[in-house]
Amino acid sequence: MENLGMGFEIIAGAVVKLECNNTKKTMIQTATTDRNGKFLIEAHKNVSTYGAHKCKVFLFSAPHGLKRSNIHGGIKGATLRSEAHDLLGNPKYHLYTVLDLAFEPICPH
Ligand SMILES: *[C@@H]1O[C@H](CO)[C@@H](O)[C@H](O)[C@H]1NC(C)=O
Ligand SMILES: *[C@@H]1O[C@H](CO)[C@@H](O)[C@H](O)[C@H]1NC(C)=O
Repeated sequence: MENLGMGFEIIAGAVVKLECNNTKKTMIQTATTDRNGKFLIEAHKNVSTYGAHKCKVFLFSAPHGLKRSNIHGGIKGATLRSEAHDLLGNPKYHLYTVLDLAFEPICPH
């Protein structure tokens, strides 16, 4: 998750979930955002057989009880976007990104 612009705050410590389906089973991996609001999930090596189009990234939880928003698919699932092939010169590594995901602001009452 990156800063969406003015009025948005970067969230560290939010948990995101990578979910991949194939015909047999669903594979789930999670990661926590760092202080820049970014995360990296190294998909299990089985994931290549699943196909990235069967993977989605979801918001799972945030610190301070923030509510998830569906901006860019945070709740319904964000589609992976291919970012780089042959990462580190290795054709086995492929980097995908998702658009910025967001939590709802806390409304003071
Ligand atoms: C990876 O694939 C192997 C062989 O098909 C299977 O036994 C194993 O359970 C799979 N692992 C995961 C995490 O899906
Ligand atoms: C994986 O399959 C389950 C069960 O059909 C479905 O609820 C879920 O949305 C699927 N996940 C993805 C990432 O397509």
